[in-house]
Parts: sequence; C-alpha cells; structure tokens
Amino acid sequence: MATKKVEKLAIDGGKKVWSKGFPAWPQFDKKTDKKVLDILHSGKVNYWTGPVGMQFEEAWAKWLGVKNAVSVSNGTAALHVALTALGVGAGDEVICTSYSFIASSFCALQAGALPVFCDVGTDHLLDPKKIEACITSTRRRSRRASRRARRRSWSSTSTAWSPTWIRS
Ligand SMILES: Cc1ncc(COP(=O)(O)O)c(C=O)c1O
Repeated sequence: MATKKVEKLAIDGGKKVWSKGFPAWPQFDKKTDKKVLDILHSGKVNYWTGPVGMQFEEAWAKWLGVKNAVSVSNGTAALHVALTALGVGAGDEVICTSYSFIASSFCALQAGALPVFCDVGTDHLLDPKKIEACITSTRRRSRRASRRARRRSWSSTSTAWSPTWIRS
C-alpha cells in the first residue's frame, strides 16, 4: 500500500490549515436588524398584539405547501411541540441520538416520555442499524399490539437534530 507523508498536526506544532479565524455566529442581515427594530418600536411585541407572528406562519405554511404552520420561540420549543403533536407521552420511549444538543433528548422528558440513547455512526448521525436494539423487551411486551410504532421519516442526513424513532 502506498504511504503518504503526513504533516505534523497543528496541535503538535505543525502548520495550521486555516489561520484567518472563523466568522462569528450567529450573524444577521442588516434587513433583519431593521425588521426587529420596527417591531420593537411599534410596541406590539406580543403574538396577539402584533401581526408579524401570524404573517410569518402564513408565509411559512405557503412556502412549505402545507395548510398550517406554528411558530415557536426556539428549537427546543419546536421539538417539544412536535412530540406533543405526535401524541408522545407517559409510557412512551423516544430513541434519541447520543451525539447532539441536550434538547434532542430533553424534549422526550418534557413530554413525559423516556429518552433512550442510540449510538451514532462514523458520520456522527444516528445509526439506523442500532435502533432495533434500543427498543427494550420490557417495553416491547408492555405495549399493546394495536398501538403501532410511529416512525418519523428520517434520512441519515437529517438525524443530527432530533429524536428519530418513537415507539408507543
Ligand atoms: C441539535 C440541536 N437541537 C436543538 C437545539 C435547540 O435550539 P434552541 O437553542 O433554539 O432552543 C440546538 C441548539 O443549539 C441544537 O444544536
């Protein structure tokens, strides 16, 4: 097998592959600054006093081609709403990626369910081959056959964010 000379890693004193620094995050467009200030200056900063929240939902639903959209304050709240909308609650288990932000599994607890951590693959995304092993036999026995497993449609490219498999 051909070998290639590997340079010393930067951490060991080698040359850095990138030395210009990284951009700050998050970044906002100037137009966003103005929109936010316009809302603040209008004094109508509540969902029910100002129109922007509802306008956003309408535009978002249209863009997605769906009937309704619900806006929430952040990603954590969105996960909470998603699990609740799916009817996840006490007695359910939510199989979560073991490599993510805390909200990815905390949303299960918020819904009253139990998060079960599943290993990720070398791509750092949840490994679909390991999901079955995360379904505990206790749970398997205790669930009524009529209650079917609800599976969210996931591709291996979209698993970093959230719970992937919900069994009830
Ligand atoms: C993978 C993942 N899920 C959920 C969240 C929660 O998003 P938010 O901070 O908007 O509540 C984050 C935030 O960084 C995240 O990285």
